[in-house]
Amino acid sequence: MNNNLQPSGHDPTDVAAANANTTDPLYQRLWQRLAPFGQTHVLRWWHELNTDQRVELAAQIEALDLDTLQRLLQEPIEAQRTTLDWNQVCCPRVLRPASTLEEWQRQRRAFAVGEDALRSGRVALCLVAGGQGSRLGHDGPKGTFPIGPITQRSLFQLHAQKILALSRRYQVPLRWYIMTSPDNDAATREFFIQHNYFGLSADQVKFFVQGTMPAVDKDTGKLLMRTKWQLALCPDGHGGFLTALRTEGILDELQQLGVQWLFYFQVDNPLVKVGDPLFLGQHITSGAEISLKVVRRRHAYEPLGQVVCYQGSHYLVEYTEIPPEWQERRDSSGNFLLNAGNIAVHIFDLAFLQRATEHVRALPYHRAIKKVPFIDSDGEYRDPYEANALKWERFVFDVLPWAQRVLVVEIERAEEFEPLKNASGEHSPETVRAALCELYARWLEQAGLRVPRDSSGRVTVAIEISPLVALDAADLRDQVEHLHELHGPLLLEEPLNESPATSSDSLS
Ligand code: UTP
Repeated sequence: MNNNLQPSGHDPTDVAAANANTTDPLYQRLWQRLAPFGQTHVLRWWHELNTDQRVELAAQIEALDLDTLQRLLQEPIEAQRTTLDWNQVCCPRVLRPASTLEEWQRQRRAFAVGEDALRSGRVALCLVAGGQGSRLGHDGPKGTFPIGPITQRSLFQLHAQKILALSRRYQVPLRWYIMTSPDNDAATREFFIQHNYFGLSADQVKFFVQGTMPAVDKDTGKLLMRTKWQLALCPDGHGGFLTALRTEGILDELQQLGVQWLFYFQVDNPLVKVGDPLFLGQHITSGAEISLKVVRRRHAYEPLGQVVCYQGSHYLVEYTEIPPEWQERRDSSGNFLLNAGNIAVHIFDLAFLQRATEHVRALPYHRAIKKVPFIDSDGEYRDPYEANALKWERFVFDVLPWAQRVLVVEIERAEEFEPLKNASGEHSPETVRAALCELYARWLEQAGLRVPRDSSGRVTVAIEISPLVALDAADLRDQVEHLHELHGPLLLEEPLNESPATSSDSLS
């Protein structure tokens, strides 16, 4: 990359000439701030802007951390990756599903501890939903995407109804914190208002906005502009959650409320067991500061970050940063040696978060090359076909090495993980709806119902079960015990033992 930061078509003398009649002291101040970094081109249209637009642009410029941006532009790319000496890497200890009576009993005890934590109001839930969802390409925040196999209920509705069901089960209004970005905050809040918070009370739900990082032209390092008075700012990654918890006053609020554990999840996985009592109990009884749920890998090059141990700490390594020989390495039983794929469901100890967020500036930035719309030097809007911009994100899992005690829990992928990432192919609406149908079908089968499947074992009817009816197979068992067979699509919106369907012995 050209790091001398002189823009083509944005010569500082052009900018100065265009604004020659500007006497505004604010303009002078901004110029002086930008000039040492070669970024004065963002003032190109100052003379055309009205007062509100000038104020907006000035605020964005003042908020920039230009020293950090300069460093990120000049740093070699390796400095923005997790670089480990792979000779010293080993596999983490993973808590696997119970296979002995003793383990099963331990799980039952952990479950009770988790339930107690929920019941006593010491758990809050935090959803990060500030991403741009560029791969999915949905018009609106990703959480508004209609995903229910029959009702098209949105991702937000599914999460909200799980929280409502848990709140009812444990007789406590669980607090739900939702991180948005400046781009999707208003639309997200509006969606919740339109849907009456999906039955939750408005004061149970709190939105907070994450920070941003500027996008720059990938060839020149110049700040990109979205309009003549707005920089092209991108959300600063899910790691922005750690900064925003502090800057938005969430940590203080949680402390005042007596919350000890924060259950973190991401918007795109509708299978997530929000507030899972077992996971909470395992976290609490193990004395961990951070817990993570992981899955086994499907194949050597599955794009899934892996948890590893390195020099006595835990690290999450992006799949792109794992050397091929490690991707393929297997143990004597034929299992992948690295087999703890992160599904981004975590529990954080609040005391740990208090400490970690004090040092959040030390978290690395990761560089990404993306398509970012911008205005060119003629002020024309451009929506590029190809990646044109560099942007930087922080990742929430980069705090892992800061924790003294980490718990890694393996779960069954089909039960808890199928994220919505792409418009088609892997992790798309099609695969996510299919995964939901399969999950609901297994719950019904565990309750004794026969569900139609094709010769390859796939469910052949659409099934959707509201979280208000059941959060898991156990919830459903009592409700469908009189039923034997499913013939057609099934939508359960109301608890069955309160609806007329219980009088029949089959559902169609
Ligand atoms: P992804 O890494 O899948 O990114 O986010 P994304 O922005 O949603 O989608 P693409 O990459 O543009 O297609 C995983 C989770 O982290 C949240 C997302 O909302 C999602 O829940 N996230 C991501 C944030 O909250 N903020 C961010 O800056 C980035």
